[in-house]
Amino acid sequence: EQWGGETQRVDSAIETAVDGVYAPKHIGSCPDMDEAAGAAAVASTRGAWDNGMGLWPTMSVAGRIKHVEDFTHRMIEVRDEIVRLMCWEIGKPYKECCVEFDRTIEYVRDTIDALKELDRTSSRFVIESGIYAQVRRAPLGPTLCMGPYNYPLNETFATLIPALLMGNPVIIKPPRHGKLLFAPLMEAFRDCFPAGVVNLIFGNRRLVKPILESGVVNVLAFIGSSEAANAMRLLHPSPNRLRCILGLGAKNAAVVMESADMDLAVSEAVSGSLSFSGQRCTALKILFVHENVVDEFIRRFNEGLKNMPIGMPWVDGVRITPLPEPGKIQYLTDLVADAEAHGAKVVNPGGGAVDRSLFHPAVLYPVNGQMKVYHEEQFGPVVPIVPFKDVETPIRYIIESRYGQQMSIFSDDAAEVASLVDPMVNQVCRVNVNCLCQRGPDVFPFTGRKDSAEGTLSVGDALRCFSIRTLVAAKGTPRNKA
Ligand code: G3H
Repeated sequence: EQWGGETQRVDSAIETAVDGVYAPKHIGSCPDMDEAAGAAAVASTRGAWDNGMGLWPTMSVAGRIKHVEDFTHRMIEVRDEIVRLMCWEIGKPYKECCVEFDRTIEYVRDTIDALKELDRTSSRFVIESGIYAQVRRAPLGPTLCMGPYNYPLNETFATLIPALLMGNPVIIKPPRHGKLLFAPLMEAFRDCFPAGVVNLIFGNRRLVKPILESGVVNVLAFIGSSEAANAMRLLHPSPNRLRCILGLGAKNAAVVMESADMDLAVSEAVSGSLSFSGQRCTALKILFVHENVVDEFIRRFNEGLKNMPIGMPWVDGVRITPLPEPGKIQYLTDLVADAEAHGAKVVNPGGGAVDRSLFHPAVLYPVNGQMKVYHEEQFGPVVPIVPFKDVETPIRYIIESRYGQQMSIFSDDAAEVASLVDPMVNQVCRVNVNCLCQRGPDVFPFTGRKDSAEGTLSVGDALRCFSIRTLVAAKGTPRNKA
């Protein structure tokens, strides 16, 4: 509204038939902002920060909470519109879009409660060696928030809300797919926050470049690939000064031991690898199954695929839906062909079939280290299964991985579980026993080692990420002057 730019057509992940010809459905348009818009966003955010002396960074915690609560009420009023736009734009099953919206509201409320608690504890004075000290949490400054397409609302708000509550003015750049759903929020952002505190921009990398190059942004909160994060960090004139809060790639493995409860292991593995068509950073992206139970596991896994119906996202019960990323279908098709060329087979009937932007889940077996799917983060409905004899094989895989987010162990033997948990907590940031990998509940710490994350994005931890501890220390108390 304020900065304009060329208008860009926005298509749905879902193609529709017109006179029998399928084509992407045109669902809206939004500005494709240029570099001048990036510079305007920088100036606006810098004004709101005003070297830390602006209205927002100096406002009381209670004052900021009130603004965020007012915004949340307005956001709830447009729930239906947001949910429907999300469903059309990224093809997420309608019910899962509702869950994402409600989870986001809960995240905001829990973060407000966590801030009240943080504020209570930081208003206390401690006395040590005759010095009175109060530890406060102060804002860091202009913050750039960029969420991913798979959780365009929830993951963007997981950084936006703690950043705002801690007193940082923000620039939000929604993902390339999943941006239209920010349109119903624009008026609420404008009405509920002081000028310059929330700056919403639409565009591609061209727009982000001048923002980071300006050196005005002190915090980069980004959920996406490590490659993109590294490239953005280097655009800042002082990369060491830029605080990065990052949620990046992962190749979470499941290890199914011979002793595992098969019903449980299979139902968790199906859902863990294929929910939202495998487009979750926490998805199980490789399954190691003990060779003595692998045949049974595959037979049951294929039966479990019946719980993952394929179709359009508004149809009740559908779980596998059209993929929004251009080029994704080709990438997955090539991944399957590469695995087949190296000796794997698609072991589920119809696996890998393509129907426009729908990709039928492909279960690949036996997968080995020569295949691309063994190493790459597929982020789609392809399930590689690796047989193992010795548990050392999956352990090595996890140790040597460039990622370190989570893993799952399926075993019914307590001693076996204990022997695996201890080495694994030094490799990943969440070890799941007899359950799939996931981010929630959102009060649990969510982070990763190596190329998987920087900073921790849970309800309470995120408040700490977007602030710095400052100390007020005093010897004696100043006298009251009458
Ligand atoms: O894509 C990454 C998400 O944070 C995963 O969240 O485990 O709730 O699907 P989820």
